[in-house]
Amino acid sequence: MRAAVCHAYGTPEDLVIEDVDPPVPAPGQVLVRVHAAAVNFPDVLFIAGKYQVKIPPPFIPGNEIAGEVIAAGEGARFSPGQRVAGTTFGAFAEQALLDASQAVLVPDDADFASAAAFGVTYRTAYYALRSTAAVREGDWVVVLGAAGGVGLAAVDLAVAMKARVLAAASSPEKLELCRQRGAEATVDYDQEDLKTRIRELTGDAARVVLDPVGGSYSEPALRGLARGGTFVTLGYAAGTIPKIPLNLVMLKDIRVRGMEIRTFATDYPDEAVRDDVELARMFADGIVRPYIGARFPLAETAAALRYVADRKVLGKVVIDVA
Ligand SMILES: NC(=O)c1ccc[n+]([C@@H]2O[C@H](COP(=O)([O-])OP(=O)(O)OC[C@H]3O[C@@H](n4cnc5c(N)ncnc54)[C@H](OP(=O)(O)O)[C@@H]3O)[C@@H](O)[C@H]2O)c1
Repeated sequence: MRAAVCHAYGTPEDLVIEDVDPPVPAPGQVLVRVHAAAVNFPDVLFIAGKYQVKIPPPFIPGNEIAGEVIAAGEGARFSPGQRVAGTTFGAFAEQALLDASQAVLVPDDADFASAAAFGVTYRTAYYALRSTAAVREGDWVVVLGAAGGVGLAAVDLAVAMKARVLAAASSPEKLELCRQRGAEATVDYDQEDLKTRIRELTGDAARVVLDPVGGSYSEPALRGLARGGTFVTLGYAAGTIPKIPLNLVMLKDIRVRGMEIRTFATDYPDEAVRDDVELARMFADGIVRPYIGARFPLAETAAALRYVADRKVLGKVVIDVA
């Protein structure tokens, strides 16, 4: 099978498209003919050897797939031909394994690209909104990097939860997309003063900030929160981890929380199950479907990752494998 292989930590352009042996499903796993694989910002970090968890090369990057079951290992509750999606390792390939316990059936009316793109970012955003920040109807929620993968998922889901969304991003095109997805207010945080605009646009009532960007954007966003507000740190796409003066937290009784998708289900198993069920229902009912801003063939996996690394992404980037 063809696959994008990382032979040594480096840039997207260092990936090699080559023939490799297809994986063999172990008990409890299914082998999937990959139709679509979604790209996430951490894929860029994985191949650079800069993610919190390091995979020794050689490896096939990519964590989200949707496709057809080709073969099922012993005890796996799926059969060949079924349409499935899930998170895994080795997604940027013609075939990949999924743990049956992690896989979900793709609804008949959903395409593979949407199903692949619904996994990581929507779960991240929903756990953060629903469980970590306990967003309620009518709350003002400020989303940073709001046109990116996690960001636009947060916009979609906060709108679905009937919260009021202030979307912050770096270009008119990105902010227009956020308005189309239901954001009530927008801020270009590279052009406007983020703290001041959050206070003005929300009437000093911002209850939650979701921050997958970090860098110089976090502190003004935290300063824009109302008293007793909740700041959720999710990631550092800007490349630096900010240091926040603690007096800001004290003066307005701010709650600072983190949410990390790999540990959330272990730390909060009941909430994770509830959130996953609610998310799956929203996807099946068509209430929330990801926006796919760019698509690439498997042969152009490097270009897909470069697109994300260069801050160009609108919503999700998908690799059409078959
Ligand atoms: N906590 C978790 O469990 C979890 C799960 C998934 C992802 N993450 C993390 O969340 C972050 C975002 O992931 P994502 O998949 O949403 O990424 P993404 O689609 O690339 O979005 C990131 C956004 O960050 C903004 N940004 C600001 N400076 C940037 C820079 N120098 N380079 C790239 N983007 C920059 C961009 O928006 P503007 O141009 O509008 O500023 C971009 O849209 C990553 O750090 C990722 O590791 C965390």
